[in-house]
Amino acid sequence: MSELIGAAVPVHIAIIMDGNGRWATRRGLPRTLGHREGAETLKRVARYCKDIGVGYLTVYAFSTENWKRPGDEVSGIIRLLRHYINTFESDPERDRIRVNFIGDIETLNADVQRDFRSISERTRGNRDAINLTIAFNYGARDEIVRAARKAAALAAQGELVPEQLDEAMLSGLLDTRAMPDPDLLIRAGAESRISNFMLWQLAYTELYFTDTLWPDFRDADIDAAVAAYAARQRRFGGLSTGRGGGS
Ligand code: IPE
Ligand code: IPE
Ligand code: MG
Repeated sequence: MSELIGAAVPVHIAIIMDGNGRWATRRGLPRTLGHREGAETLKRVARYCKDIGVGYLTVYAFSTENWKRPGDEVSGIIRLLRHYINTFESDPERDRIRVNFIGDIETLNADVQRDFRSISERTRGNRDAINLTIAFNYGARDEIVRAARKAAALAAQGELVPEQLDEAMLSGLLDTRAMPDPDLLIRAGAESRISNFMLWQLAYTELYFTDTLWPDFRDADIDAAVAAYAARQRRFGGLSTGRGGGS
Protein backbone atom coordinates (compact mmCIF):
# COMPACT_ATOMS: atom_id res chain seq x y z
CA MET A 1 0.00 0.00 0.00
CA SER A 2 2.69 2.46 1.01
CA GLU A 3 4.27 2.82 -2.43
CA LEU A 4 0.93 3.97 -3.80
CA ILE A 5 0.59 6.90 -1.47
CA GLY A 6 1.07 10.05 -3.48
CA ALA A 7 0.77 8.21 -6.81
CA ALA A 8 -2.06 9.00 -9.18
CA VAL A 9 -4.77 6.90 -7.60
CA PRO A 10 -7.90 6.77 -9.77
CA VAL A 11 -10.95 8.50 -8.34
CA HIS A 12 -13.19 5.81 -9.81
CA ILE A 13 -12.22 2.19 -10.45
CA ALA A 14 -14.64 -0.16 -12.20
CA ILE A 15 -14.09 -3.91 -12.10
CA ILE A 16 -15.44 -6.79 -14.17
CA MET A 17 -15.16 -9.56 -11.58
CA ASP A 18 -14.72 -12.50 -13.95
CA GLY A 19 -13.30 -16.00 -13.60
CA ASN A 20 -15.18 -17.35 -10.56
CA GLY A 21 -16.47 -20.40 -12.43
CA ARG A 22 -13.09 -21.35 -13.90
CA TRP A 23 -11.43 -20.89 -10.52
CA ALA A 24 -13.82 -23.45 -9.02
CA THR A 25 -13.79 -25.86 -11.97
CA ARG A 26 -9.99 -26.02 -11.91
CA ARG A 27 -10.22 -27.20 -8.32
CA GLY A 28 -12.93 -29.75 -9.08
CA LEU A 29 -15.44 -27.63 -7.11
CA PRO A 30 -18.96 -26.51 -8.04
CA ARG A 31 -19.06 -23.08 -9.72
CA THR A 32 -21.04 -21.62 -6.83
CA LEU A 33 -17.99 -22.05 -4.57
CA GLY A 34 -16.09 -19.84 -7.01
CA HIS A 35 -18.77 -17.18 -6.59
CA ARG A 36 -18.48 -17.50 -2.81
CA GLU A 37 -14.73 -16.97 -2.98
CA GLY A 38 -15.36 -14.06 -5.36
CA ALA A 39 -17.58 -12.39 -2.77
CA GLU A 40 -14.75 -12.67 -0.23
CA THR A 41 -12.41 -11.08 -2.76
CA LEU A 42 -14.82 -8.18 -3.18
CA LYS A 43 -14.78 -7.50 0.56
CA ARG A 44 -10.97 -7.38 0.58
CA VAL A 45 -10.72 -5.26 -2.55
CA ALA A 46 -13.29 -2.73 -1.31
CA ARG A 47 -11.36 -2.36 1.95
CA TYR A 48 -8.06 -1.94 0.10
CA CYS A 49 -9.46 0.58 -2.38
CA LYS A 50 -10.75 2.61 0.55
CA ASP A 51 -7.28 2.42 2.18
CA ILE A 52 -5.50 3.79 -0.89
CA GLY A 53 -7.96 6.62 -1.39
CA VAL A 54 -10.21 5.46 -4.22
CA GLY A 55 -13.50 7.37 -4.10
CA TYR A 56 -15.74 5.13 -6.20
CA LEU A 57 -15.57 1.40 -6.80
CA THR A 58 -18.11 -0.03 -9.25
CA VAL A 59 -18.25 -3.80 -9.66
CA TYR A 60 -20.03 -5.96 -12.21
CA ALA A 61 -21.72 -8.72 -10.22
CA PHE A 62 -24.48 -10.00 -12.52
CA SER A 63 -25.30 -9.01 -16.08
CA THR A 64 -28.61 -8.90 -17.91
CA GLU A 65 -27.18 -11.78 -20.00
CA ASN A 66 -26.22 -13.92 -17.01
CA TRP A 67 -29.86 -15.12 -16.73
CA LYS A 68 -28.91 -17.51 -19.55
CA ARG A 69 -27.05 -19.63 -16.99
CA PRO A 70 -28.55 -22.67 -15.24
CA GLY A 71 -31.17 -21.73 -12.65
CA ASP A 72 -29.22 -23.16 -9.72
CA GLU A 73 -26.15 -21.05 -10.54
CA VAL A 74 -28.30 -17.91 -10.84
CA SER A 75 -30.10 -18.57 -7.57
CA GLY A 76 -26.74 -19.35 -5.91
CA ILE A 77 -25.36 -15.96 -7.01
CA ILE A 78 -28.45 -14.14 -5.72
CA ARG A 79 -28.29 -16.03 -2.41
CA LEU A 80 -24.62 -15.12 -1.99
CA LEU A 81 -25.23 -11.45 -2.69
CA ARG A 82 -28.06 -11.36 -0.16
CA HIS A 83 -25.80 -13.07 2.38
CA TYR A 84 -23.11 -10.47 1.64
CA ILE A 85 -25.65 -7.73 2.28
CA ASN A 86 -27.19 -9.29 5.37
CA THR A 87 -23.88 -9.87 7.14
CA PHE A 88 -22.86 -6.28 6.54
CA GLU A 89 -24.21 -5.19 9.91
CA SER A 90 -21.45 -7.10 11.70
CA ASP A 91 -18.75 -6.26 9.17
CA PRO A 92 -15.94 -4.07 10.51
CA GLU A 93 -16.04 -2.20 7.19
CA ARG A 94 -19.62 -1.16 7.80
CA ASP A 95 -18.91 2.49 8.37
CA ARG A 96 -16.33 2.90 5.61
CA ILE A 97 -18.52 1.93 2.66
CA ARG A 98 -21.59 3.48 1.05
CA VAL A 99 -23.37 0.83 -0.99
CA ASN A 100 -25.45 1.48 -4.09
CA PHE A 101 -26.83 -0.58 -6.95
CA ILE A 102 -27.12 -0.01 -10.67
CA GLY A 103 -28.99 -2.13 -13.17
CA ASP A 104 -32.61 -3.03 -13.77
CA ILE A 105 -33.40 -3.48 -10.08
CA GLU A 106 -37.16 -2.92 -10.30
CA THR A 107 -37.74 -6.24 -12.08
CA LEU A 108 -36.02 -8.28 -9.35
CA ASN A 109 -37.97 -10.13 -6.63
CA ALA A 110 -39.38 -7.87 -3.93
CA ASP A 111 -37.26 -9.46 -1.17
CA VAL A 112 -34.07 -8.88 -3.14
CA GLN A 113 -35.06 -5.28 -3.74
CA ARG A 114 -35.76 -4.89 -0.04
CA ASP A 115 -32.25 -6.09 0.84
CA PHE A 116 -30.73 -3.71 -1.72
CA ARG A 117 -32.71 -0.78 -0.33
CA SER A 118 -31.90 -1.68 3.22
CA ILE A 119 -28.11 -1.66 2.79
CA SER A 120 -28.24 1.48 0.64
CA GLU A 121 -30.24 3.32 3.28
CA ARG A 122 -28.18 1.99 6.19
CA THR A 123 -24.88 3.15 4.64
CA ARG A 124 -26.09 6.36 2.97
CA GLY A 125 -25.02 8.60 5.86
CA ASN A 126 -21.52 7.12 6.19
CA ARG A 127 -19.04 9.94 6.11
CA ASP A 128 -15.58 9.60 4.61
CA ALA A 129 -16.66 6.34 2.95
CA ILE A 130 -15.88 4.75 -0.39
CA ASN A 131 -18.85 4.54 -2.79
CA LEU A 132 -19.27 0.88 -3.65
CA THR A 133 -21.69 0.43 -6.53
CA ILE A 134 -22.79 -3.10 -7.31
CA ALA A 135 -24.00 -3.62 -10.88
CA PHE A 136 -26.67 -6.29 -10.66
CA ASN A 137 -29.03 -7.29 -13.45
CA TYR A 138 -27.00 -4.65 -15.25
CA GLY A 139 -26.44 -4.34 -18.98
CA ALA A 140 -25.17 -1.14 -20.55
CA ARG A 141 -27.47 -1.44 -23.56
CA ASP A 142 -30.41 -2.01 -21.25
CA GLU A 143 -29.38 1.02 -19.19
CA ILE A 144 -29.22 3.20 -22.32
CA VAL A 145 -32.59 1.89 -23.52
CA ARG A 146 -34.16 2.70 -20.13
CA ALA A 147 -32.64 6.21 -20.29
CA ALA A 148 -33.93 6.68 -23.85
CA ARG A 149 -37.40 5.63 -22.71
CA LYS A 150 -37.32 8.22 -19.94
CA ALA A 151 -36.34 10.90 -22.46
CA ALA A 152 -39.09 9.79 -24.84
CA ALA A 153 -41.64 9.90 -22.01
CA LEU A 154 -40.56 13.44 -21.11
CA ALA A 155 -40.88 14.47 -24.76
CA ALA A 156 -44.32 12.86 -25.01
CA GLN A 157 -45.43 14.83 -21.95
CA GLY A 158 -44.18 18.02 -23.60
CA GLU A 159 -41.46 18.46 -20.96
CA LEU A 160 -38.54 17.97 -23.32
CA VAL A 161 -37.88 19.32 -26.82
CA PRO A 162 -35.69 16.78 -28.70
CA GLU A 163 -33.04 19.45 -29.43
CA GLN A 164 -32.60 19.94 -25.67
CA LEU A 165 -31.36 16.39 -25.22
CA ASP A 166 -27.57 16.53 -25.00
CA GLU A 167 -24.80 14.36 -23.52
CA ALA A 168 -25.13 15.86 -20.06
CA MET A 169 -28.87 15.27 -20.00
CA LEU A 170 -28.59 11.70 -21.24
CA SER A 171 -25.86 11.04 -18.63
CA GLY A 172 -28.30 12.33 -16.05
CA LEU A 173 -30.86 9.72 -17.10
CA LEU A 174 -28.46 6.79 -16.68
CA ASP A 175 -28.21 4.69 -13.52
CA THR A 176 -24.77 6.21 -12.91
CA ARG A 177 -26.03 9.80 -12.85
CA ALA A 178 -24.55 10.48 -9.41
CA MET A 179 -20.97 9.40 -10.12
CA PRO A 180 -18.04 10.44 -12.28
CA ASP A 181 -17.03 8.21 -15.20
CA PRO A 182 -14.52 5.47 -14.29
CA ASP A 183 -10.86 6.42 -14.64
CA LEU A 184 -9.69 2.81 -14.68
CA LEU A 185 -11.48 -0.38 -15.71
CA ILE A 186 -9.99 -3.66 -14.53
CA ARG A 187 -11.17 -6.94 -16.00
CA ALA A 188 -10.08 -10.04 -14.12
CA GLY A 189 -10.39 -13.51 -15.60
CA ALA A 190 -8.31 -13.55 -18.80
CA GLU A 191 -10.88 -12.16 -21.24
CA SER A 192 -10.31 -8.98 -23.25
CA ARG A 193 -13.82 -7.71 -23.71
CA ILE A 194 -16.32 -5.39 -22.05
CA SER A 195 -19.33 -7.76 -21.97
CA ASN A 196 -21.93 -4.98 -21.97
CA PHE A 197 -20.51 -3.09 -18.98
CA MET A 198 -20.79 0.73 -18.77
CA LEU A 199 -20.51 1.29 -22.54
CA TRP A 200 -21.37 4.98 -22.28
CA GLN A 201 -19.28 5.73 -19.18
CA LEU A 202 -16.11 3.97 -20.40
CA ALA A 203 -15.64 6.33 -23.36
CA TYR A 204 -12.27 7.62 -22.05
CA THR A 205 -11.53 5.11 -19.30
CA GLU A 206 -8.12 3.43 -19.16
CA LEU A 207 -8.56 -0.33 -19.70
CA TYR A 208 -6.56 -2.98 -17.84
CA PHE A 209 -6.98 -6.69 -18.53
CA THR A 210 -5.41 -9.34 -16.33
CA ASP A 211 -5.28 -13.14 -16.44
CA THR A 212 -5.77 -13.34 -12.67
CA LEU A 213 -9.09 -15.03 -11.93
CA TRP A 214 -11.26 -12.89 -9.65
CA PRO A 215 -11.11 -15.22 -6.59
CA ASP A 216 -7.27 -15.06 -6.81
CA PHE A 217 -7.26 -11.26 -7.00
CA ARG A 218 -5.25 -9.63 -4.17
CA ASP A 219 -4.13 -6.17 -3.06
CA ALA A 220 -1.00 -6.59 -5.20
CA ASP A 221 -3.22 -6.95 -8.29
CA ILE A 222 -4.83 -3.60 -7.49
CA ASP A 223 -1.34 -2.15 -7.04
CA ALA A 224 -0.31 -3.48 -10.46
CA ALA A 225 -3.40 -2.05 -12.15
CA VAL A 226 -3.02 1.34 -10.47
CA ALA A 227 0.69 1.43 -11.37
CA ALA A 228 -0.20 0.72 -15.02
CA TYR A 229 -2.82 3.46 -14.86
CA ALA A 230 -0.34 5.91 -13.34
CA ALA A 231 2.01 5.35 -16.28
CA ARG A 232 -0.67 6.08 -18.89
CA GLN A 233 -1.14 9.37 -20.67
CA ARG A 234 -4.75 10.46 -20.88
CA ARG A 235 -5.52 12.86 -23.69
CA PHE A 236 -9.30 12.81 -24.02
CA GLY A 237 -8.84 13.55 -27.70
CA GLY A 238 -6.60 16.54 -27.03
CA LEU A 239 -2.84 16.96 -26.98
CA SER A 240 -1.90 17.29 -23.33
CA THR A 241 1.18 15.40 -22.24
CA GLY A 242 0.54 14.95 -18.52
CA ARG A 243 1.58 11.66 -16.98
CA GLY A 244 0.40 9.58 -14.09
CA GLY A 245 -3.12 8.87 -15.21
CA GLY A 246 -3.49 12.60 -15.32
CA SER A 247 -4.74 14.81 -18.07
C1 IPE B 1 -17.98 -13.94 -12.97
O1 IPE B 1 -17.45 -15.22 -13.02
C2 IPE B 1 -19.24 -13.86 -12.15
C3 IPE B 1 -20.46 -13.75 -12.96
C4 IPE B 1 -20.52 -13.59 -14.25
C5 IPE B 1 -21.73 -13.80 -12.26
P1 IPE B 1 -17.96 -16.29 -14.06
O2 IPE B 1 -19.04 -17.07 -13.43
O3 IPE B 1 -18.29 -15.68 -15.36
O4 IPE B 1 -16.67 -17.19 -14.18
P2 IPE B 1 -16.11 -17.86 -15.51
O5 IPE B 1 -15.93 -16.77 -16.51
O6 IPE B 1 -17.12 -18.87 -15.95
O7 IPE B 1 -14.83 -18.47 -15.08
C1 IPE C 1 -19.20 -10.46 -17.27
O1 IPE C 1 -18.73 -11.75 -17.21
C2 IPE C 1 -20.29 -10.27 -16.26
C3 IPE C 1 -19.87 -10.27 -14.86
C4 IPE C 1 -18.64 -10.39 -14.42
C5 IPE C 1 -20.91 -10.10 -13.90
P1 IPE C 1 -19.32 -12.91 -18.14
O2 IPE C 1 -18.62 -14.15 -17.73
O3 IPE C 1 -20.79 -12.91 -18.10
O4 IPE C 1 -18.85 -12.42 -19.58
P2 IPE C 1 -18.68 -13.24 -20.93
O5 IPE C 1 -19.91 -14.06 -21.12
O6 IPE C 1 -17.46 -14.10 -20.77
O7 IPE C 1 -18.49 -12.19 -21.99
MG1 MG D 1 -17.22 -15.28 -17.02
